[in-house]
Amino acid sequence: MKNAIVIGATSGIGKGLAKLLSENDYNIGITGRRTELLEDLKAQKPNSFITKTFDVTNTEVISENLEALKNELGGLDLLIISSGTGDLNEKLDFDIEKRTIDTNVTGFTCISNWAFNFFERQKSGHLVVITSVGGLRGSGIAPAYNATKAYQINYLEGLRQKASKLEGQIFVTDVRPGFVDTDMAKGEGQFWVASVEKATRQIFNAIKQRKKMVYITKRWKLIAIILKGIPGQLYDRL
Ligand SMILES: NC(=O)c1ccc[n+]([C@@H]2O[C@H](COP(=O)([O-])OP(=O)(O)OC[C@H]3O[C@@H](n4cnc5c(N)ncnc54)[C@H](OP(=O)(O)O)[C@@H]3O)[C@@H](O)[C@H]2O)c1
Repeated sequence: MKNAIVIGATSGIGKGLAKLLSENDYNIGITGRRTELLEDLKAQKPNSFITKTFDVTNTEVISENLEALKNELGGLDLLIISSGTGDLNEKLDFDIEKRTIDTNVTGFTCISNWAFNFFERQKSGHLVVITSVGGLRGSGIAPAYNATKAYQINYLEGLRQKASKLEGQIFVTDVRPGFVDTDMAKGEGQFWVASVEKATRQIFNAIKQRKKMVYITKRWKLIAIILKGIPGQLYDRL
């Protein structure tokens, strides 16, 4: 058996991945703020899941919770960060921007640091983060969401560079979904919306192959190429 922690496993992609891991010889520590949803998931397979309720924006409690989960599991091979938030914010309400930064930047960084430092000491481990195709360009309707996803993408590239200079086998995977059918998928004009099952199946395959980066679903790579190729002057008017 291997051991994993999934941050943000109460719903959506994180819950789907936690279930898939439980069918593939993993014991899993699952986290989120909604205790009852963690307990519902645990009730489906009591021997596979250990739960911990905490808010990733409260960085004071992150290390102690992750340390406790790792010890209860008896080790850690894989940590997946699927916690995230993002709201449309055309009026630039700072409370929304701050919540997005606290979750997707500060919480993400604190968890990544704990995981990377542990994997460095252990000389092995795999960090997987659900970023977004949105991180490739700015967004006028959700500025903080796209900017925080760009931060995650760059941060993970930095960690991969750091890992390549270390002894041992530390892997870092950047998972970039387009649209997946969860509470998070917001706004008009959605297309190529993947089911959670299809998205998590593709993510799990990428984890097994220890990919550096993957688009979910695969055809979002095409959108990524187009997005990155649009000149700034034209992009501003879209
Ligand atoms: N769905 C899409 O179309 C899409 C596209 C691109 C990227 N993504 C990314 O995929 C990741 C997962 O999102 P999802 O689509 O699965 O949406 P979701 O169903 O809303 O899941 C979000 C998860 O994050 C957790 N979370 C949020 N804020 C938290 C906080 N402050 N502390 C602890 N946990 C927190 C939630 O748990 P609690 O509420 O219980 O705390 C929940 O488990 C996000 O990073 C999102 O940006 C999604």
